[in-house]
Amino acid sequence: MRKLFRNLAMSAVVSVLALSTSVPSAYAADDAKKADEAKAADVAAKPADAAKPADAAAKPADAAKTEEKKEVTGKDLAFDRAKGNCLACHIIAGGDLPGNIGPPLAGVSQRIPDKAKLRAQVYDARVANPDTIMIPFGPMGVMNDEEIDKVVEFISTL
Ligand code: HEC
Repeated sequence: MRKLFRNLAMSAVVSVLALSTSVPSAYAADDAKKADEAKAADVAAKPADAAKPADAAAKPADAAKTEEKKEVTGKDLAFDRAKGNCLACHIIAGGDLPGNIGPPLAGVSQRIPDKAKLRAQVYDARVANPDTIMIPFGPMGVMNDEEIDKVVEFISTL
């Protein structure tokens, strides 16, 4: 009876050993298979990669399209709080929550018909009024020349 028990115990050990050696090798076989599959997938993916340069070539045209749409207008610049921010001080038609520090700009093109004078006011208001609190947009580099031109074009329609 004791011998039978020992035999049973031994066979249990043997089968556990057998299992523990066969399991890793099964995994190893699995891993090898996966690696092969990955390689095959890689090879299959390459033709698609090769098609990418055509995609990239198509992009400049797309970018040009969105740039066209996004062209910044003088009105955009005048209302942009990081650029003209003219609404902080001036009432301008179409602008929300305007300030009232400067005169409303409605009809400014009749008051200042000379575009050079209008530009001078936007470029550096200190020239006409040394005590002005209007930002000297040009000398302070808040807007570049092109941006100031656009803003002047916009306000000369008011
Ligand atoms: C910080 C306030 C402030 C901001 C911002 C401001 N202005 Fe002025 N602006 C004034 C004041 C004040 C005057 C009155 C004249 C003066 O003191 O220079 C004025 C005058 C003007 C005038 C002359 C108006 C008239 O009827 O004689 C124009 C044009 C003008 N601003 C355009 C602009 C434009 C365009 C912007 C945005 C790019 C702008 N201003 C931003 C304060 C401001």
